[in-house]
Amino acid sequence: MNMTPKEIVAYLDDYVISQKDAKKTIALALRTRYRRMQLDEDLQNEIMPKNILMIGSTGVGKTEISRRLAKMMKVPFIKVEASKYTEVGFVGRDVESMIRDLVLNSISIVKSEKEEQNQDKINNYVLNRIVEKLLPPLPESASESKKDDYQRLLEAMEKRVENGEMDEKIIELEFDKIHVEFDDSNLPPEMVKVQESFTKIFANINKEDNKKEISVKDAKEVLKLEASNKLLDSNSINTEALKRAENGGIIFLDEIDKIALSEKSQGRNDPSKEGVQRDLLPIVEGSSVTTKYGVINTDHILFIAAGAFHVSKPSDLIPELQGRFPLRVELESLTEETLYKILTQTQNSLLKQYEALLGVEGMKLIFKDEAIRSIAKLAHKANETTEDIGARRLHTVLEKVLEDISFEADEHSGEDYVITSEFVHKKLDTVVDDDDLSRYIL
Ligand SMILES: Nc1ncnc2c1ncn2[C@@H]1O[C@H](COP(=O)(O)OP(=O)(O)OP(=O)(O)O)[C@@H](O)[C@H]1O
Ligand SMILES: [Mg+2]
Repeated sequence: MNMTPKEIVAYLDDYVISQKDAKKTIALALRTRYRRMQLDEDLQNEIMPKNILMIGSTGVGKTEISRRLAKMMKVPFIKVEASKYTEVGFVGRDVESMIRDLVLNSISIVKSEKEEQNQDKINNYVLNRIVEKLLPPLPESASESKKDDYQRLLEAMEKRVENGEMDEKIIELEFDKIHVEFDDSNLPPEMVKVQESFTKIFANINKEDNKKEISVKDAKEVLKLEASNKLLDSNSINTEALKRAENGGIIFLDEIDKIALSEKSQGRNDPSKEGVQRDLLPIVEGSSVTTKYGVINTDHILFIAAGAFHVSKPSDLIPELQGRFPLRVELESLTEETLYKILTQTQNSLLKQYEALLGVEGMKLIFKDEAIRSIAKLAHKANETTEDIGARRLHTVLEKVLEDISFEADEHSGEDYVITSEFVHKKLDTVVDDDDLSRYIL
């Protein structure tokens, strides 16, 4: 959370090529959050987050930037598609459910932190529960020397359970309570109560036959859950999670252009689009949303909206919503050079993926640099002559280049396969040069 803007950008650089402005804006927004949290409470309440609108055509890295951020940061973060929501009163997910999802995400972050902190306690609990099954307790009346022997046995058994020697052994465990979890992120608050009582009823019904024979190995997993439910204070987890979601939460609102009403398609538009925009207003502006875990205020949640805005423009959003996304960044279209860098400099580049996949067949794929240049060049050309689908073009192009090799890979186990520029051109030239063909194939 306390990474500097430069550090955040440097991290993103490993995965997303170019798009400097977008990275900078987001890094700064995150740092501002951090700065705010260091201030007095009075001042904190005055400082509202500046929401961001990312504009860029398809496949240039909008979603990728957010995905990476989510992985890196330990702040509550969810990515949702604006086009999935429907106006209140219609069938479907209402926009408030995104806030509930954010809270759930926050809870799972806080919970795993607490589990980490209490690892020893949890492990002890698990160990005790298993050992008491494997080694029946001594009667109270046992003599001192018997008790000493028993103690030694106990310790030896603990060791054996810990290092997995007993994993295959079957024990009979009784469980306190069977957890019945509903997917409740979409439930209105009134329903949440109903659901909670349901859970209670189910728990009681299950009390009768709550004994189960399982292996020690499985018991370790199951009991870990039980231990964390028992030992960790779920109330304090929920409170902490709500607070974090409120002050540090980020919602990435993808496909926002899909709920804009474009002039071109007026009349054919789904009337509920504008409704969704209106429903979004109070949430983005700041309002209270009731969740199962308490009321959360959305004032300080950061919203990052993204869209290609091919058909519609940001100005097609209702003005009130536009005004709530004051920071605009445009992502650049990808040049040939950028495509080349995406292939060669990203952490998990497509080339590495293909090398690894064919490596499974015992085949070594070697890309000559000139070949990579050619791939970038042809991908860029295809983007220019047909549709610009950004870096996604690399997927289709590479797939075409490698399809035969990939198909026969198992027959070439143990071989090296060098991909040259010539090979790339042989595979692609006829396709790229023919507009109609490339429309279908690439
Ligand atoms: N600048 C970039 N650097 C590295 N990889 C990129 C870049 N742009 C796109 N990619 C890759 O291309 C693919 C598609 O990118 P992404 O999902 O971010 O597109 P998008 O901008 O969200 O498009 P859309 O508007 O269609 O949702 C991903 O696999 C991503 O890794
Ligand atoms: Mg996207």
